[in-house]
Amino acid sequence: MELNRNLPRVAADGPLDSTVMGLLSDRVELLPWDATDGGMGRVDGLYTYGHPTVDAAMLDRLPGLRVVSNYGVGIDHIDLGAAMDRGIPVGNTPGVLDGATADMGFALLLATARRLVEGDRYARSAAFTRYDPGYMLGREVHGSTLGIVGMGRIGEKVARRAIGFDMTVLYHNCRPRPQVEDELGLRYVGFEELLAASDFVVLCVPLTDRTRGLINASSLKRMKASAVLVNIARGPVVVTDDLLDALRSGTIAAAGLDVTDPEPLPRDHPLLGLENVVISPHLGSATDRTRLRMAEGSVANLIAGLAGKPLPCPVAARPPERS
Ligand code: DGY
Repeated sequence: MELNRNLPRVAADGPLDSTVMGLLSDRVELLPWDATDGGMGRVDGLYTYGHPTVDAAMLDRLPGLRVVSNYGVGIDHIDLGAAMDRGIPVGNTPGVLDGATADMGFALLLATARRLVEGDRYARSAAFTRYDPGYMLGREVHGSTLGIVGMGRIGEKVARRAIGFDMTVLYHNCRPRPQVEDELGLRYVGFEELLAASDFVVLCVPLTDRTRGLINASSLKRMKASAVLVNIARGPVVVTDDLLDALRSGTIAAAGLDVTDPEPLPRDHPLLGLENVVISPHLGSATDRTRLRMAEGSVANLIAGLAGKPLPCPVAARPPERS
């Protein structure tokens, strides 16, 4: 393919989806991610998908850089402070994926509680010969207590779904959200109280220095032995080895994981062999409509930044631990 040297040059982490490719065609010259090592000439923009790392050293290698645009809301792979220090705007796509991600959290909660994946395997197997009222009993979702860790946009959407399931909803957040409490009838509690009182704990926090390893051996011990943990946040919010021990020893009952650390897990990882784990390959925002909006939003940020204009959706501030 002949490349147009007059177009802005954008290093993209691939593979790019067809919508993004369509939206970018004839507007930028796409470069492989390797261009971020500085050896392929000028780079005007970076386009990422939640990884790989964009750090100060990379930014220093790319002196002409005008914008970093991320397809998705999580920007834990980008050193925001370093970008701000260098005057490089960073854009992401919050808002458009909250509903889809909350749906996924609920799908995992229900699938784990009602042993849906295990049941699917059983229903397809030769072992299933007749209905048995005693087999594969699960946990009741309706009428139980849900603890939401992180009451941002996605946490709030999870709470709305829980109310439809007649659940009591507790939440913990970096600060209480009285308006949401009043509107939805939620109760703000301390982290440890949430762990001790919840039948289901859903993680909806961004990954920061404060939330990395938040769910570890000590927090898992505070949860009910019958509890289910659902992670729709980021893998490193949970210490994988501690979760594995807790699931094997019965410290907690089950886990539904859309994200893991590492991601993907090695194919022979023991977590993948446990019946009390339902795992999906980071599908939180994976619906056609949501992905279209993510594509449009991230491309709009990129094009604006390349033109030196304000981003339609800039990441507003440094992460809290840097302020
Ligand atoms: C996000 O938006 O951060 C999702 O995890 C998709 O990458």
